[in-house]
Amino acid sequence: MRWGRLRRGKDRGDDVRGSGIDSSPAMKISTLLSALLMAGTAFSSQDPLADLPEDLKAAHVTFVELCASCHGVLGDGKGTTELDRPARSFADGGFSFGNTKEALFRTLKSGIPGTPMPAFGGQVPDERLEELARLVQFLGPGGEPEPPKGTELIVKDRPLIVRGHFPALDGEEDDVVRGLLIGDPSGMSFQYASDNLRLLSVRLGGFVDRADWGGRGGSPLRPLGRSIYTPRDLLRPTAWRLANEGYLRPRLRATSTTRGVAKIEYELFDAAGVLVARCVEAPRMLSTSLGSGYAVSYQLTAGATRALTFYPYPSPTSQSWTLNHGGAEFTGSLTTGHVSCKRPMESPGNELRIMTPLPGMSAVERGFEMIVSPEEPVLFEAGVLFLTEWSDENAVRALKELQHGNK
Ligand code: HEC
Repeated sequence: MRWGRLRRGKDRGDDVRGSGIDSSPAMKISTLLSALLMAGTAFSSQDPLADLPEDLKAAHVTFVELCASCHGVLGDGKGTTELDRPARSFADGGFSFGNTKEALFRTLKSGIPGTPMPAFGGQVPDERLEELARLVQFLGPGGEPEPPKGTELIVKDRPLIVRGHFPALDGEEDDVVRGLLIGDPSGMSFQYASDNLRLLSVRLGGFVDRADWGGRGGSPLRPLGRSIYTPRDLLRPTAWRLANEGYLRPRLRATSTTRGVAKIEYELFDAAGVLVARCVEAPRMLSTSLGSGYAVSYQLTAGATRALTFYPYPSPTSQSWTLNHGGAEFTGSLTTGHVSCKRPMESPGNELRIMTPLPGMSAVERGFEMIVSPEEPVLFEAGVLFLTEWSDENAVRALKELQHGNK
């Protein structure tokens, strides 16, 4: 291991202290000498940063400034910030979201929702992030980054959508026989069940592998990356119901990726098979310097004026708190929307839920009631931001960044 010497350098301190008990001066001197020798090897020629290429020196200064508090000056994960979920040691390798230059750039730009790893896209220019990505590779275990397999579908500068047969989700037994996966250039992907259009899983990292995983029929697709959120609410068969009546049954009409936005279009039918509304749904990643997450936008067009109940992902729970800011009720006071949050922190992060307020909208258990009418489509967005560190101020700042980004 490259950093082994530095760790031994730390042990050396104990040796010197221990030698105080030893009465033999010769012994003392030899211990001291060997300690000095080890210190010499640790901090001069063997200093891993001594090998740092000239063109990465500036990046390392940025690294010390922005990253070292969590990742350590050497990227060994020994930062000074106490984290519930420790930052990784780059030297250990095993990057969950890939260690090609492109994958690292994406991780730095967008952050890792649900972990303390913030998004740097808003505060560090792209060229600097590219340098930082190269520095992370340098601090890594070495060797070539893993090249993607020939069967891997890679999302580049526009979203991709695949439909087909997926393996069972973690903790589930049944395969997702009819599934839909949207891959976003941010590195985030959204997996839906095609028959009821529930969002099943939000992932980060690679997109999808088309390798055959057992010949169980359909087109076999294995989602890559790591699941960062599983917004499953098994009590709800679908996200929509008629207020005081049954759930609406969605039927997928089409998927599209135009102007960089992936969309799912579906119709909602009542129990009698009558078309109640059409919906266009589009998920996206949210990144702020205080934490990242995701949001889904909805555009609803109704055939008649009706009261609908909508259950967002993740649904607000009975433990949802309303954010108070400066003593005043915060709900709805920013145009970003209705805000509620869960405190205290629940692993993996502080969840700040966001919902665009609509005229006449009211909160009901785990959802929102709204009026839809044929005159005008209803547009709103619902999402969650996982704040790196909870405070009311951070919540407000993150929302302001989002508002800014939306313009
Ligand atoms: C507030 C603490 C914090 C700061 C600041 C921070 N990170 Fe991280 N970072 C983390 C944590 C925690 C993880 C591990 C997340 C997880 O559980 O996968 C991580 C993960 C990563 C990963 C790993 C991705 C993978 O594929 O597994 C990279 C690369 C990374 N950070 C680079 C950086 C760089 C470069 C900076 C500075 C520009 C930085 N981080 C700043 C906390 C931090």
